[in-house]
Amino acid sequence: MTSRRSFLGLVSAPLAASVTLSPFGLPGAPDDPVLMPADIGVRDDETFWKSLRKQFTIPANQAFFNTATLGSSPRAVQEAVTGSIQHISRNIADWDYKPDHENFFTGYYPEMPRRDQAATLLHCTGRDIALTQNATFGMNFVANGLDLKPGDEVVVTDQAHPGGRKGYDLRAKRDGVVVREIKVPAPPESPDQLIQLYLDATTPRTRVWAIPHISSSRAIRYPVDQLCTLARARGIWSVVDGAQSLGHVTVDVQAMGCDAFFASPHKWTLGPVGTGLLYVRPERQQELWTTLASSAWDDQTDLMLRLMQYGTGNLSLLIGLGVAVDFHNQIGSARIQQRDFALADQLRTGLATVPGATIVSPTHPELTCATTVYGLHGKTGGQIQDYLWERGQVRVRSMGDTVGVRHACHIYNSPADVDRALTLLRELAD
Ligand SMILES: Cc1ncc(COP(=O)(O)O)c(C=O)c1O
Repeated sequence: MTSRRSFLGLVSAPLAASVTLSPFGLPGAPDDPVLMPADIGVRDDETFWKSLRKQFTIPANQAFFNTATLGSSPRAVQEAVTGSIQHISRNIADWDYKPDHENFFTGYYPEMPRRDQAATLLHCTGRDIALTQNATFGMNFVANGLDLKPGDEVVVTDQAHPGGRKGYDLRAKRDGVVVREIKVPAPPESPDQLIQLYLDATTPRTRVWAIPHISSSRAIRYPVDQLCTLARARGIWSVVDGAQSLGHVTVDVQAMGCDAFFASPHKWTLGPVGTGLLYVRPERQQELWTTLASSAWDDQTDLMLRLMQYGTGNLSLLIGLGVAVDFHNQIGSARIQQRDFALADQLRTGLATVPGATIVSPTHPELTCATTVYGLHGKTGGQIQDYLWERGQVRVRSMGDTVGVRHACHIYNSPADVDRALTLLRELAD
């Protein structure tokens, strides 16, 4: 099947100031206009972040610190998705299946302009990415797509999220692949310690290093550049789980040197729920079989298109993803990372003054990120989570009774939100 004219141009072009952002003729919000960051005027001051906060529909009295599970899409993204759904349902009878008609679904087509746009997040070309449903798809496409033989080995960490690991466990049970699990100290002392753990687990049979860019439950930022270089020198596939990093820290897959990188833009990139990206280094693409096969399963002219053959899919989500990518790029990855890290530093500094608080995530500056995991003496993770929500409408996520909570700072959070959380923690500690 060939690609047809699409709606991308209607929603991904820079959006005019104070517009209702309605390619589909929907009215804007009654009180505040729906704006993109460039319309607000991107600046490095608190006024900008305050104005930006109005583009999120999280109620103003709530502080949402759980982006590590799921982000909240800005209003522009919400409008693009709902507008597209309405547009398709309204105009479905008009669809004549002729080549110049726009598509109303995805799952068969190259979607090249959308891939090119999403690829800007990773600093690669659209030809080297597949649009998937989430990170789990990406991990499985690599784990299932590689020609691994019985006895071939894969190195994983004991803290890998199931969506970054279980595909290899499946291959172990089904095909006799050996999964070697690294035990990561909580917290690790240094990047070198993590690198040494990978090297120690490696044998002549090692084919894959499964590397979390930022781990889910302990928020460790791995030294991915060094790990990918070491893997490359040994002919080992470096497969980086970017579910917690894309939209949070700057990602450049070419500078990183990874063989594969997969992510869930519905977390830190604030895209619609059910969107994913998988990058594979061009030199490695031929080594992967597709897991899901449909019409273009063996297309040799577009090797990543083979990994987008999932059957009828929701085009409206891809349209929303395009707006989320624009929203992110207009602010800029570096600025977002700086803002998020500054909020997290404020939190970690404040935690040092909360009696009985212990930070479980790393404190080594090269291993930290915008997510902090901490406990409070004598309190379970569930108790901390519930207290913060019930007393102050502050949403963090419990990481289990013995560990504590995970607290992820992102662009809709403010220094005042962090202070509010710290005040509540001090109260609870008393
Ligand atoms: C590190 C990591 N990998 C993979 C996943 C799976 O993501 P998804 O459910 O979007 O596929 C998650 C989800 O939290 C994660 O944190």
